[in-house]
Amino acid sequence: MDKQIEIKYQVFKDGFELDEIDQKLYESAKKAREKAYAPYSDFFVGCSVLLKNGEIVVGNNQENAAYPVGTCAERVALNWVSANFPNEIIQKIFIVGAPKDTTKMIKAVPPCGICRQTISEYENKQREKIEIYFGTISGEIFKVDSIQEMLPFSFNSDYL
Ligand code: THU
Repeated sequence: MDKQIEIKYQVFKDGFELDEIDQKLYESAKKAREKAYAPYSDFFVGCSVLLKNGEIVVGNNQENAAYPVGTCAERVALNWVSANFPNEIIQKIFIVGAPKDTTKMIKAVPPCGICRQTISEYENKQREKIEIYFGTISGEIFKVDSIQEMLPFSFNSDYL
C-alpha cells in the first residue's frame, strides 16, 4: 500500500514579514554568523535559539583542519543550551547561512541531517515543539513548526 506524507511549511518574503521577536532572532543569528570560524569552506552560518525564559543563545559553525571535526552552528548553539540550561524549554531556532562573500547569490539554508537529528533529540526530550526558521542574509525565510516536518520517521529514545 502506498502512503504519502505531507510537510507543512511557511515562507516569509523577507525579515520584515516576521514578528518582532522573530526579527530579533534573525538579527542575532546574522550577527553570530559574522563570527563563524569557517576558514576552510568560507561558508558562514549563525544560529540563535530562543528559550522559554526569554534568553537568546547563539552559535556559529566551528571548522577544523581535520574537516569532519568541524561542528555546525546549530549544534554549537543547542549543545551550549543543553550544557547551561538543561531544564529550559527551547521554543525557536533561527538559522542563517551564506558564503563569506555575500555578493554570491544564495537561497535559504536549511539544517543538515546531523543537526536535524540533534534538534529532534531536544524536541523529543522536552516534549514541546521547536519552531525552526531558516534563511540567508536577505530574502526568503522558511519556517516549520516542528522538526517532524523535516525529519519524518526519526529515530529517538522511544526505540531504546
Ligand atoms: N553548516 C552549518 O553550520 N549548518 C548547517 O546546517 C549546514 C552546514 C556549516 C558546516 C560547515 O562549516 C559549512 O557550513 C559548510 O558546510
